[in-house]
Amino acid sequence: MKSVRDINVSGKKVFVRVDYNLPMDDQGNITDDNRIRATLDMIQWLREKEARIILASHLGRPNGVRDAQFSLRPAARRLSEILGIEVRFADDCIGAAVAKLVDDISPGSILMLENLRFHKGEKKNDPAFAKALAELCDVYVNNAFAVSHRDQASVTGIVSHVKTAGAGFLLEKEIRSYYDAVEHPKRPLVAVIGGAKVSSKLAALENMLKFVDSLIIGGAMANTFLNAKGVDTKGSMVETDLLDTANAIVRTAEAKGVELLLPQDLVAAETFDKDARCDTVALDGMPDGWMALDVGPETAKAYAQVIKGAGTIVWNGPMGVFEMDRFAKGTQCVADAIAGASGFSIVGGGDTGLAAKKCGIADKVNYISTGGGAFLHMMEGKTLPGVAALE
Ligand code: 3PG
Ligand code: MG
Repeated sequence: MKSVRDINVSGKKVFVRVDYNLPMDDQGNITDDNRIRATLDMIQWLREKEARIILASHLGRPNGVRDAQFSLRPAARRLSEILGIEVRFADDCIGAAVAKLVDDISPGSILMLENLRFHKGEKKNDPAFAKALAELCDVYVNNAFAVSHRDQASVTGIVSHVKTAGAGFLLEKEIRSYYDAVEHPKRPLVAVIGGAKVSSKLAALENMLKFVDSLIIGGAMANTFLNAKGVDTKGSMVETDLLDTANAIVRTAEAKGVELLLPQDLVAAETFDKDARCDTVALDGMPDGWMALDVGPETAKAYAQVIKGAGTIVWNGPMGVFEMDRFAKGTQCVADAIAGASGFSIVGGGDTGLAAKKCGIADKVNYISTGGGAFLHMMEGKTLPGVAALE
C-alpha cells in the first residue's frame, strides 16, 4: 500500500475519504466526534504541505437520496471549531458547481463535500459516479478505515480513475495496530469476544483461534456455547442452529491448546428490562423462564485474572446488556481489568468503543479502533476492499 507520505501533495487537489459517520442525537447534535479527531494529524500534515484539501464522507444510510437529517454540515462545523479555521462546505459531492468550489480552494484550505450516499452510485460503486468523484482531484487518499470494508465508489471504485492514490495516516495506523497486536503479539495473546450473536462473530471466532492463547467469551453468544455443553439456559437467547458450530469451536480450541473461557455463573433476569427482577445464579440454577443478561461475578473475576496476565489483549463485544446498569457489571469488570493490565490493549470500535467509553476506560487502553464493521472484518482475517484497492 502506497503511503500518502510518499506522494507529492503540495498545491495539489487532494481528495481525502474520511469516515465522519458520527453518532448524533435526535436533534442532530454530534454526540461523539472521535472520528473527526482521529483525522486531525492527517489534515494538519496536508495543510502544512499546502495541499488543497477536499474532504468526503458518508453519514448514515440515506439510500441514495438527499435527506437533510444526514447532511454533513454539522461535521464541517465541528471540524472548523476544532481547527479554528474556516471549513467551506459544498452542497453536493459531484458536478460543475462542486468543481468550481474545488478550483477555488487555496493551498492549505479545506472544502468538505456533502454526503456521498445522497447519490445511489456511491453504494452501488457505479463507475460513472466514481469517475465523477475522481475528476475533482489530482490525488486520492483513503483515510477512512471504518468504511474500508465497503466496496463503494469513494472507497474502491475511485482508485482506478485517479493517477495517484495512497493510504492516509489513520488507515495506516489502524492496520498497523491491529496486525502488531494479533500477528506479532507479546504473549499470551488474549481475545475477549462478546456480543449478542455467535452468527455475527463466527468468522472472527474461528480466525482468532489461529492466533490466540486464550479466548474469553461473554455476552448473549456465551448462552449458545453453554447450551451446546448441556446447560439448561431456560429463557436465554440461544441460536439453536449453531449448537454444533459452538461445539466445533470448543473442540478446535482444545485441539490447538487454546484456553477457552465460558461463564461459570450468570446474572439472570425475569424479563428483558432495566428494572426486571434479577439475581446471580449458578449455571444449573437458572429459574424457569429467566434469561441470562450478564456474566456473573465469579466469571468476571476469572476473566479479569486472565486479562491481567496477558501480554496483548484484543477486545470486541460487551459481556452483557451493558446499556442497562444492572447488567453492565461484567463488562465493567472486564473493562477495568483491560485498563489495569500491563499488556498492550486494542479495542474494536462500534459498540465496544461505546462500552469502553461508558466504563470510563477509553483513555486507558492502548488503542481504540474507529472501526466497527471494519475491525470485525480484520478479526475475520479478511482483506479490506479499501486496502486491496490501494495495493
Ligand atoms: C460504520 O460506522 O460502520 C461505517 O461508517 C460504515 O457505515 P455503514 O455500516 O453504514 O456502511
Ligand atoms: Mg456499520
